[in-house]
Amino acid sequence: MLASFFAFAAAIALSLSSSASVSALPSGFATTDGTRFSVDGKTLDFVGANSYWLPLLTTETDVHTSFQQMRDQGVKVVRTWGFNAINGSELAGALESNLTYYQLWNSSELDYVVETASQYGIKMIVTFTNNWHGSDLYLAWIAGNPTTHDVFFTDPKIVASYQRYVRTIVERYKDSPNVFAWELMNEARCGSDTYPSGPACVPGSETVLKWYKEQSDFVRSLDPFHMITTGGEGQFFWPGDTALASDFNFNGQAGEDFDRELFLDNIDFATYLIPGSGFDTEGWGIDWITNHSIGKSYHCLLAKKLFNFSAAATRANKPIILESLIYPSWVQHALDLKHAIMPWQFGALGLTEDGGNRLIKYADEILNGASPNDGLAIYKNNTAIWDIFANAALVQDSRSR
Ligand SMILES: *[C@@H]1O[C@H](CO)[C@@H](O)[C@H](O)[C@H]1NC(C)=O
Ligand SMILES: *[C@@H]1O[C@H](CO)[C@@H](O)[C@H](O)[C@H]1NC(C)=O
Ligand SMILES: *[C@@H]1O[C@H](CO)[C@@H](O)[C@H](O)[C@H]1NC(C)=O
Ligand SMILES: *[C@@H]1O[C@H](CO)[C@@H](O)[C@H](O)[C@H]1NC(C)=O
Ligand SMILES: *[C@@H]1O[C@H](CO)[C@@H](O)[C@H](O)[C@H]1NC(C)=O
Ligand SMILES: *[C@@H]1O[C@H](CO)[C@@H](O)[C@H](O)[C@H]1NC(C)=O
Repeated sequence: MLASFFAFAAAIALSLSSSASVSALPSGFATTDGTRFSVDGKTLDFVGANSYWLPLLTTETDVHTSFQQMRDQGVKVVRTWGFNAINGSELAGALESNLTYYQLWNSSELDYVVETASQYGIKMIVTFTNNWHGSDLYLAWIAGNPTTHDVFFTDPKIVASYQRYVRTIVERYKDSPNVFAWELMNEARCGSDTYPSGPACVPGSETVLKWYKEQSDFVRSLDPFHMITTGGEGQFFWPGDTALASDFNFNGQAGEDFDRELFLDNIDFATYLIPGSGFDTEGWGIDWITNHSIGKSYHCLLAKKLFNFSAAATRANKPIILESLIYPSWVQHALDLKHAIMPWQFGALGLTEDGGNRLIKYADEILNGASPNDGLAIYKNNTAIWDIFANAALVQDSRSR
C-alpha cells in the first residue's frame, strides 16, 4: 500500500521504424521522436499529472472542474487507472455470475474522461492494472490465494484473464488520439503488500521482463499506433557491484530491470519514480535522475560484463518520464536532462461530490470538495508547490514546437 503512494513509472516508444510510423500514424496520435515525445510532427515536452480517481468521479461537472484545474497548471498528459479494483465484499451485490472484478468496470465513466480530455488539450495514459490492489484481486479470485505474488506474471489463467480485459479496453479506445499511451501495470514487482515474492522471481529470473515483453507484444498486436509503457518504478538490475548488492533500487530484487525493459521492441518509453523511505534525499534523487537519463552512459563497469548499459542507453533512444517529485532541484535536473515530468498526484478543489466514492482506494475520501489526498496531493491553494510545476510546464511548453 505504502509503495503505491510513491506513484509509478511508465515507458513509451514506437515499435515501428520511424519512417513507417510517420506515414501511418493517424493524425493527433502521440508518438516518440528519439528521446522526446511528439504529436503531428511537433515536439511535445510536458508536465503531466497523476489522477487515478478521475474516472471514478460521479458527476460530469467534477470531471470538467478537474480538467480545468489541470489545464490551469499547464498539464498536457494525465495518467489514470483504466481499471476499478474492488474487493470481494464490494462485489457481492453485483457479482452473482462469477465474473471477476474488472468486468464490473463501468466503461461509461472512463469513456467520459477520455472523451473530455481533448477539450482541455490533454491526453491520457491508461493503466491496465496495479501491483498493489488490482493484481492481488486476480490472485485471490483466479489463483485461489497462491503463496506468492509473482504467480500473477506466470499463471496462464491469470495472463489470459488480464489479456481479455486489456483487449476490451484497447479495442474500445484504439482509434482515439486522446489516449497518449497504454501502461501495462502500475509499479510491477515480484511481491505486493498482500503476497511476498517467491523463488521464481529473483534477480536474473527475468520474470517481470518476460511478462512485459509478452504483454507489450500482445497490446501491439491489437493496436499498431498507440505508445506502450511498462509503468515500472525504474529500478535497475546492475549485478556484480558489491556496493549495490543490498540496494533494491539497483540489485534487481524488486523484479525490474529498467535498461532491458526499455529495449523491448514494443515498449516505447519508460517512467521512473524517486522512491520514498530514506532514498529521497536531495542528492540521492539528483543521482537517480542522472542514472536514468537516456543517451548517456551508465557508469557501472562490472555490470557491463552482463549488459552493455552504455550501448543500451544509446540504442534504445527512447523518452522517459519522471514521477513523484519533491525538491525543486529535482524538477530542474529532470528539465535539464529533458525528461518529461508527471508528479504524483494532482489535487482538484471545488468538486461537488462529497464523502467519496466507496470504490476509490487509497485515501478514498473527497472532503470539502477536494480530490483524494494520500498526503502527496498538490492542490492549487498550495501555491509554492503548484507553481513549481506550473513554471516547469511553461518551460516544457516553450520547447514544444
Ligand atoms: C472491501 O471494501 C469494503 C468497502 O470499501 C471495506 O469496508 C472492506 O474492509 C474491504 N474488505 C477487504 C477484505 O479488504
Ligand atoms: C458460480 O460459481 C458457483 C460455484 O462454482 C456455481 O455454483 C454457480 O453456478 C456459478 N454461477 C454462474 C452464474 O455461473
Ligand atoms: C455508469 O456510470 C454512469 C455515469 O456515472 C452512470 O450513469 C451509470 O448508471 C453507471 N452504470 C452502471 C451499470 O453502474
Ligand atoms: C548514478 O549517477 C551518479 C551521477 O552521475 C553517479 O555518480 C553514480 O555512480 C551512478 N550510480 C551508479 C550505481 O552507477
Ligand atoms: C558498449 O557499447 C558502446 C556503444 O555501442 C561501445 O562503444 C562500447 O565499446 C561497448 N562496451 C563494451 C564493454 O562492450
Ligand atoms: C487547500 O485545500 C485543502 C483541501 O481542501 C485543504 O486541506 C488545505 O488546508 C488548503 N490549504 C490552504 C493553504 O488553504
